[in-house]
This record gives sequence, C-alpha cells and structure tokens, in this order.
Amino acid sequence: MISYILLLFLSFLVLCSIALPSSCPNLCECDQNDSSWSVYCRKAIINDTIYAEILNQLPLTLRSLHIQPPSNRIGSNKLRWNDNINRFAQLRVLRLINCQIPAMSRSIRLPSLEVLDLHSNNIEHATMSNFGGMPKLRVLDLSSNHLNILPTGVFTYLRALRSLSLSNNTISDLSTNLLRGLNSLRVLRLDRNPIPIEHINELFTDVSQLDELYLNHCNLSSIYSLALDRIPQLRQLGIGGNNLKMVPTKELRSLPQLSVLDLSHNSIQEITACAFCNTNISKLDLSHNLLGISKDSPFNEDAFRTMPLRHLDLSFNHMNDFDSKWLGWAQEELTSIALSGNFLKNFEESWTYTLKSLIHLELAYNHIKFIPVQLPSRYYHLISLNISGNELTYLPDNINTLLPNVKTFDITANRFHTFSHTDLAFLNNVEQVYVDGNPWDCSCAIQGLQVHMRDRYAMRHILNYDNVRCATPSLVEGHSVLAITDVNDCAVLFGARYGLTQTSEMLILLAGVLLFAALLLMILGCIYFLRERQYKGSYVTREHSRTPLTMANTHSCSSSTNDTHGPLSPPFDPFLVSTETFKATPPLIPPAPPKPGSSYFGI
Ligand SMILES: *[C@@H]1O[C@H](CO)[C@@H](O)[C@H](O)[C@H]1NC(C)=O
Ligand SMILES: *[C@@H]1O[C@H](CO)[C@@H](O)[C@H](O)[C@H]1NC(C)=O
Ligand SMILES: *[C@@H]1O[C@H](CO)[C@@H](O)[C@H](O)[C@H]1NC(C)=O
Ligand SMILES: *[C@@H]1O[C@H](CO)[C@@H](O)[C@H](O)[C@H]1NC(C)=O
Ligand SMILES: *[C@@H]1O[C@H](CO)[C@@H](O)[C@H](O)[C@H]1NC(C)=O
Ligand SMILES: *[C@@H]1O[C@H](CO)[C@@H](O)[C@H](O)[C@H]1NC(C)=O
Repeated sequence: MISYILLLFLSFLVLCSIALPSSCPNLCECDQNDSSWSVYCRKAIINDTIYAEILNQLPLTLRSLHIQPPSNRIGSNKLRWNDNINRFAQLRVLRLINCQIPAMSRSIRLPSLEVLDLHSNNIEHATMSNFGGMPKLRVLDLSSNHLNILPTGVFTYLRALRSLSLSNNTISDLSTNLLRGLNSLRVLRLDRNPIPIEHINELFTDVSQLDELYLNHCNLSSIYSLALDRIPQLRQLGIGGNNLKMVPTKELRSLPQLSVLDLSHNSIQEITACAFCNTNISKLDLSHNLLGISKDSPFNEDAFRTMPLRHLDLSFNHMNDFDSKWLGWAQEELTSIALSGNFLKNFEESWTYTLKSLIHLELAYNHIKFIPVQLPSRYYHLISLNISGNELTYLPDNINTLLPNVKTFDITANRFHTFSHTDLAFLNNVEQVYVDGNPWDCSCAIQGLQVHMRDRYAMRHILNYDNVRCATPSLVEGHSVLAITDVNDCAVLFGARYGLTQTSEMLILLAGVLLFAALLLMILGCIYFLRERQYKGSYVTREHSRTPLTMANTHSCSSSTNDTHGPLSPPFDPFLVSTETFKATPPLIPPAPPKPGSSYFGI
C-alpha cells in the first residue's frame, strides 16, 4: 500500500518535472505544433519585468512571438528591446506591437527571422546595424513609428526583403539609393508620409520590379508627375486619401498589369466613359468618395468597359439609392460588391437584380434594423454576407433557407444579446461567423455561443474572439465570452437574469413537479368519480325513458355532479363487466355488443 502511494507520488514528480520547462507563461496563450511554439501575449499589459520573465520561460524552439496590449483596456505595454530574444535561433515571426519601444538593438541575432513587425512603437532612428543579424527577413513593418530621416543604405543587409512598410511616420525626405540592392522587394508601403513626389520617383529606379505600391494619404493632389512607367510590373496601387477629383485614366495606361486599384477617400464624383479601359483591373475600391452626390447614376454606361472587373467597393458614397443596372459592362461578371455606409436599409431587389455572378455582398453601416423573411433571389447564392455595424437584434427563423450557401457571415457591432436555437443551428453550419462588438448577455443562453466559438477556436484571431464580450449581467460585464465559466452556476430554465441560482431553481422545479402531480391526481380522481356518476345516471334515464344507451361523454364535471336521480344502481363500467353484475340487475335493453373496429368488417 505504502509503496503504491510512493509510486504515485514519484510519477507525479516526474510528470511535473517534464511539464515545467515548457509551461506557457500565464499572461500568454500558446499554440504548440510538435516542439515549435507560437506564443500570443495579448491578454494583459506587459512591462519590461514581465517581458523578461516571459522570455526566460519560453522554450528555445520558439517559432513565433506576438506581444500586443489587449484592445479593450486602457493602458499600454511599455518595453525596451531585450537582447535575450537572441536565444531563440529558430524564431521566424516576431511581433512587438504598440509597446512604446523607443529603439531597436544594434546586436540583434535572429538568423531564422522572416517577419519583424514593430508597428505602432516610438522608434525614431534606424541604422544599418539594426538589421545586420536577420539575413532571412522577408517582411519588415515599421509603420506608425516616429521615423524621420532614414540614412542611405539602412536596409542594405536585408537581401531577402520582400515587403517593407514605412507608413505613418514623419518621413519628409528619402535619401537617394535608400532601396539600392533590394532586388527581392515587391511590396512598398509609404502611406501617410509627406514625401515629395520627386523623392518617390527616385526610389523607383532601384526597385523597378515592384508589384505593390501604396501611397495613400500622401497629400498628392494629382499623380500626373508620378513616374509610374519606371515600375511597369506593378499589379497593385494604392492612391487613396489624396484628394483626387478624377480617375487618373491617362496615368494608369503605363501600368498594363495593374489588377488592384485603391481610389478610396478621394473626391471623385463620377466615373467617365472608359475610365479604366484596357487595364487589367479586377478589384477596384471607390469607397469614401462622392459618387452619390449627383442625382442619377454617377457611372457612364461605358465606365467599366474592357476591364475584367470582379470586385467593386462603393461604400460610403452618400448613395441613398442604388441600381445594379448602373454598372453597365460590369454587371455580368461582378462577383463581389460593397455598399456599406450608404443608407441602404431595406434589401431592395434593385441593388442586386442584374448581378448574375454575385456571391459576396457587404452592407455594413446601413442602419439595417432587421433581415426580412423574404430576400431577393440573388441572396440564395451568396457565399459571404457582411452586415456588420447595423442595428440587428435577431435573425429571422428561416435564415437557414434565405442564406443556405453562406460560408462567411459578419454581424460584428450589431445589437444581438443572445442567439436562439434556430440561429445557432444556422450559424454552426457557417465556417466563419464574426460576432464581436455585440452586447452579449452572458447568462445561461450564452452557452450555445460558447460551444460555437470553441469549435472555431483555431480561428480566434481571425474572428476577433478577443472582442466578443459580455455586456450583462453586470457581474461579468466586459469579460470575454469564451472566458466565462460561472455560466454553469446559472439557472437551468429561467436564466440568471431573474436572480435565481441553480439550487433555488431546482427547488422551484421540484415544487412545480409536485404541484403538477397533485393536480393530475385530482383530475384523475375527478374523472373516475364522474364516470361512476355518469353510468349511474344513464341507467336511471334509460329506465324511465327507454332511450337507447348512449354514453354521455360530453358532460362536464360540474354539470353532472348536481344530477339528483333516483335509486342508486350498481355501477356499470364497460371495462369491468362481471357476470355477477349482469345477473343482479339485468338491463332492460342489453348493452350493445362491443364492436371492435366495425369498419374492418363493414366492407
Ligand atoms: C505545424 O508545423 C508543420 C511543419 O513543421 C506545418 O506544415 C504545419 O502547417 C503546422 N501546423 C500549424 C497548425 O501551425
Ligand atoms: C511591471 O508590472 C508588475 C505587475 O504589474 C509590477 O509588479 C512591476 O513592478 C512592474 N515593473 C516595472 C519595471 O514597472
Ligand atoms: C499613425 O501613428 C500615430 C502615432 O504615431 C497613431 O496615433 C495613429 O493612430 C496612426 N494612424 C494610423 C492610421 O495608423
Ligand atoms: C499638401 O500639399 C499642398 C500643395 O499641394 C500644400 O499646400 C500643403 O501644405 C500640403 N499639406 C501637408 C500636410 O503637407
Ligand atoms: C491580369 O490580372 C490577373 C489577376 O487578376 C493575372 O492573373 C493576369 O496575368 C493579368 N494579366 C496581364 C496581362 O497582366
Ligand atoms: C465587413 O465590413 C466592414 C466595413 O466595411 C469591414 O470593416 C469588415 O472588415 C468586413 N468584414 C469582413 C469579414 O470582411
């Protein structure tokens, strides 16, 4: 016996010692794949002390580390660069976001690092020596820092760099040859910097192989002088937020391969004939322009001629009305359209009726209050529907038949408190459901949603599960829906909203059952008693009137109890007929023989 306990104790110790070195830091979440770890620390505010502890605790096989303050709480991470990160020779992805990091170290040695994301920090300077120890880096994000001047050659060591973001800094001056030697660079983001066009043009000579260029919000009132002909392979261009008044049709002709164009946040009021003719543009963003200002269609009937347009964003254009016929040449082939933020409330037939290939529809921020029980026929084919930011509180009961093919359903930031069983039956068949930003009621009914979310736990970052939070009851207000566990303590039927605990509800239930049983007994007793009285009654009636025996089934309990008929005769119960009863008081007209299913014999 003692040896058995000892054995148990020993095995417990062994288990502990195996588990200890690879335990997940308790402020983080860890995804393990064989021995390589992906660690996310986004649940709590993290400072230098805690960061150092986390680095000490993680296994050397760490593959990915992501540190970012929680989105819902006030407060911010505050970190300085810690060279202990160099322990992780297998680290591929490092994201230290919104951590107030003032500078990068000059002795970083991360030979496997492929992705370095330092956006939203306080980095003011960058030099060549910062990037000497990461030869495999493919993606570098330094956006939303305080970079001002970048010295020549700063990125020279990053021979494998494919994507560079310097967006939202205060770069007003680019040194010549800044990108010299970056022969792998394909993606360049320079949004929200006051860089003069001449400096941008000079960059192009070093990276003529660019695939994607983003110059959104760069205070360009025209792109006339932008030397796009130096980057002829460009496939994606972002020139949103630049106060453009017209589509730069002429300039786009030097980009024969362009397939994605962002013209959002400009001041475009109309799309003229052949605005994009002979381009390869299949995805066009015209959101946040002024297309709804004119009374009629803002699109010339030849606006989308000779271009392979598939995806069109017309959100936030002050359009109180929309007719899909306006899209002219694009109608047949368009597969996705966004009409968000346009005061389009009532799911009109005219929004979609000529779009024969439509499978993605976005109707966010349109003050939609409910989904009607009938939708235009095109909705039957939708694969994704985005109705986030509206005022929905419920889904129709037949949602399953309205949207049978939907795989992505976004109802972020509506007014849902809870889902019914039919809602959940529908949602559980949808691959990606975005439910964050709703005021969830975390009493019992939330369990269905929790089960739904746990099934999709692997996609929790995509589906923003961090922001799926309780609004009521007040005890758990602001808590993550996934983290709520005391739901188990809530009542079974009535919900905790009436302040009932499980025990008191059980008592109420028990009392209810007892009461019901008592009632049932009373009713049975009454029926039995009534039957006896009825048969006695029929005997008496028959004796006097000689009418054939009929069973008075329709007598109610109260009406038959006050009959005051003559002498009591022995009870007659057709189910309890005994020969003795017949002998004792033979009825004048013998009771009709039982007719077992007369219809069987009648034919
Ligand atoms: C696990 O690692 C293998 C290779 O090491 C990779 O192919 C696979 O995609 C990883 N799975 C997940 C879920 O990260
Ligand atoms: C970091 O936070 C922990 C707990 O919040 C605190 O005890 C510690 O003093 C903090 N360290 C620094 C350097 O601020
Ligand atoms: C740009 O950076 C500043 C801080 O540097 C930040 O407050 C702001 O939100 C950023 N803007 C965007 C659009 O990211
Ligand atoms: C934007 O450009 C105009 C001239 O086109 C200039 O007057 C203005 O100062 C610039 N604004 C900023 C914020 O750089
Ligand atoms: C046009 O764009 C598509 C992708 O949208 C691409 O596959 C195709 O190669 C492009 N054609 C030309 C001529 O660039
Ligand atoms: C839904 O639309 C909103 C508003 O345009 C957008 O921010 C959001 O990313 C969309 N959701 C998905 C899943 O694409």
